[in-house]
Amino acid sequence: MEEARKRIEELTKILNDANYEYYVLANPSITDQEFDKYLRELETLELEYPQYAYENSPTKRVGGEVIDKFEKVRHSIPMLSLPDVFSEEEIVNFFKRIEKEENKPEYVCEQKIDGLSVSLHYEHGHLISAATRGDGLVGENITHNVKTIKSVPLDLHRDINIEVRGEIYMDYKTLEELNEKRKEKNEPLLQNVRNAAAGSIRQLDSKIAAERKLNSWIYHLPNPEDYGIKTHMEALNFMKELGFKVNPNNKIIKTLDEMLGYIKEQADLRPNLDYAIDGIVIKVNNLDMQKHLGYTSKYPRWAIAYKFPAEEVYTKLTDIIFTVGRTGRITPNAVLEPTLVMGSTIKRATLHNEDYVLMKDLKIGDIVSIRKAGDVIPEVVAPLKERRNGTEKDFIMISECPICKTKLEKKEGQVDYYCPNIHCPARKIESLIHYSSKNAMDIDGLGEEIVEDFFNMGFIKKIEDIYSLDEHRKDLEELEGYGKKSIDNLLNSIKISKTRSVERLLFGLGISGIGDKTALLLSKKYKSIDNLMIATYDDLVSIKDIGPILARNIVDYFENNDNLTLINNLKEIGINTDYLGETEKFNDLITNKKFVVTGTIEGYSRDEIEKIIENYGGSCSGSVSKKTNVVIVGDSPGSKYQKALDLGIEIWNEEKVLDVLKTL
Ligand code: IVH
Repeated sequence: MEEARKRIEELTKILNDANYEYYVLANPSITDQEFDKYLRELETLELEYPQYAYENSPTKRVGGEVIDKFEKVRHSIPMLSLPDVFSEEEIVNFFKRIEKEENKPEYVCEQKIDGLSVSLHYEHGHLISAATRGDGLVGENITHNVKTIKSVPLDLHRDINIEVRGEIYMDYKTLEELNEKRKEKNEPLLQNVRNAAAGSIRQLDSKIAAERKLNSWIYHLPNPEDYGIKTHMEALNFMKELGFKVNPNNKIIKTLDEMLGYIKEQADLRPNLDYAIDGIVIKVNNLDMQKHLGYTSKYPRWAIAYKFPAEEVYTKLTDIIFTVGRTGRITPNAVLEPTLVMGSTIKRATLHNEDYVLMKDLKIGDIVSIRKAGDVIPEVVAPLKERRNGTEKDFIMISECPICKTKLEKKEGQVDYYCPNIHCPARKIESLIHYSSKNAMDIDGLGEEIVEDFFNMGFIKKIEDIYSLDEHRKDLEELEGYGKKSIDNLLNSIKISKTRSVERLLFGLGISGIGDKTALLLSKKYKSIDNLMIATYDDLVSIKDIGPILARNIVDYFENNDNLTLINNLKEIGINTDYLGETEKFNDLITNKKFVVTGTIEGYSRDEIEKIIENYGGSCSGSVSKKTNVVIVGDSPGSKYQKALDLGIEIWNEEKVLDVLKTL
């Protein structure tokens, strides 16, 4: 027994030290295999002798704790954010103001980490709670998830009571890996590292948070006087000594030149970092001076956050290739010499349509500037015409489908060309991808690449073939990269998809103009595909939100023999074609109300918020009108916010949204 207690103590120390060396110091002293061996040994001992297990044992890092809701936590000192500045002029103004009010001030310049802020409380050196910023006064308890973040110490190097604050973030590589997996599962991609980190920290199940491999930088000590600390840099060093991960790029600055130099240096470093920074934070170093400078109603007067302009980089446009979408639409795509933009390699970018390429005056061989719009989608900004040497080739729009060689068509007044051949393999592949996608039949494991592989190998040529994929089980299991388990999972999700409510099938069929919202509307109204099939043009066009073109498309679709055969086949296979009302829920604040969502809500994408509203029988639209009931206003809202104010429409801020979500 005594031996077990001692070994548990010993292993806990070995593993905590190893975590610290690996994740905080980036200087591991034991191998991954050794680490795993010790971890397994500790897990076994803790199972047998739970009385000796430490509350903050390193075995807790893997997650497992599940909560049913996020508790509110009131911050003893408000968690303030900083005033943003965007130009050198504003930095100079800040500098001048401080120089005027203080005697020989020093500054600490730091990277502004693009994540979400967190407050950590330790008692006797043990992590006891962690909270989000929330509205600055009240945040949410996220201790269960923060415990899984390896660079956040569970035990400090000293027996001390302390609160520290910093940033939780996700590095680029982790986001890329996560999005790879999401793509495979047909789940929507996470748009940027900040949203990904915020979404991960708001998981009820800490196992999921653990898988997200979050990281931390600690940069603020709210009660420095308790530890006899006089400057911010001392506070940073103190926190580092306690075991926190403190950014080595933090630097003391004395002059304006040094300050602007630091910004330039960090801006140059930025593309090579494996985590996102979106600016530089400048703080007065001396804490008495900070006190003296004080606060405005919202912000400290002793610090600012300089935000970098959106990053643009240059690369070569080596080719323009064409892809064929599900509807036959042809899209030109830029093939770029691979280049790193904000941590990820860009090789392709959409060029939308012929007019777009001509408007930008792009030639093949041009050096072009590119940037990432919305952090993830790359965009070609403009060619550098002065770099042309005469070898560049003009862009010529194709006239035949690149896949099936059918002559392309373009409708009067439209910008897009279409391949009219409904048997075009490219169109078929895209239709199959659409059919199994998240908002359609949601077949987990049948993502873009797999559909393409299975199509090319002849396993899935048409929708019905998805349901006889099990006949090829033997062949599939022999394919490289498809293990028995993943095939089992795939076949299982195909089976599950048969039982989904009909709006998903209706959307998945890809009838021109029917998005997921219209599919739901029609399913609610007609209750089954059989009823919808016999609806007349007049019936359809009399429905609010269904215009004449859409009504005609629907009637045409159900008059086509191939489509009728497909639907009959699907019924025979046993696919549900009735409306099950599975997602219909009721909530006083949402049901039957019209919403507009603008800006971002921490932890949710706009799509996710809209989905939730629709699940509860509310509707969402893109523009504010007198008919709008509620405008949801997140971070950096657009002009819709102003319009809502002008029209006197009810406004929900982030806090209100999160409150409502919690009651659902
Ligand atoms: S100091 C009172 N330092 O940027 C001091 N903030 O508006 C509060 N951030 O909400 C923050 N890196 O989430 C500080 N090195 C850094 C930071 C940083 C990122 C975030 C933080 C804060 C926002 C500033």
